[in-house]
Amino acid sequence: MAMIAPSILSADFMHLGDAISMLNKSEADFIHLDIMDGLFVPNITIGFPVIKQIRTIAVKPLDVHLMIVKPERYIQTFADSGSDIITVHYEACTHLHRTVQQIKQCGKKAGVSINPHTPVKVLEYIVSEVDMVLIMSVNPGFAAQHFIPFSIDKVKELYSLRQQKNASFLIEVDGGVSIENALSLYKAGADVLVAGNSIFSDANPAQMITQLKAMKQ
Ligand code: DX5
Ligand code: ZN
Repeated sequence: MAMIAPSILSADFMHLGDAISMLNKSEADFIHLDIMDGLFVPNITIGFPVIKQIRTIAVKPLDVHLMIVKPERYIQTFADSGSDIITVHYEACTHLHRTVQQIKQCGKKAGVSINPHTPVKVLEYIVSEVDMVLIMSVNPGFAAQHFIPFSIDKVKELYSLRQQKNASFLIEVDGGVSIENALSLYKAGADVLVAGNSIFSDANPAQMITQLKAMKQ
């Protein structure tokens, strides 16, 4: 699969509605929303009122990436706000298995993310329970950072783990994704590429989405 999840973190927030309309018409598969709490990461972004507003016009699934500590406190509220996929960080959950079940009980798809320094093998006993695994290819917190090259090896390792476990989760990669590394990521086994800066800084964002997707063929 070659899927693209544009991150609206790099969109013009004064014209957020226009960005969502553009994504609706584009070849984007998901709309990636980065939720930061100023504790898990050194930045604060958007919360429930904005997600709810986006939900009213978005025609694509909302892929909600929670960079917040103890996300179990807010799973129900994120579900009620219109999230379709809820991804929590391995590093932010003391009882990850319980939190994953909580997401599924809300009727939502469950994702788990790992930071660059976290080895893939810690996910061995959770991968069969989740719908998506997100490999962070930058340290989370900000858009437009440099891609960390060893992330490609982590994608390969995760792809092997999926085969070994006969599991079916999607492999998503987030951070510093561009036309320069998209092919290597797809070749390594990625299904979904998140991209913020490379899409929204382009003169034609919808065309960049098409180009990133086409790297797979
Ligand atoms: C980083 C976020 C990413 C990021 C993507 O903390 O999770 O989704 O904003 O943006 P780029 O593609 O600019 O790295
Ligand atoms: Zn993200």
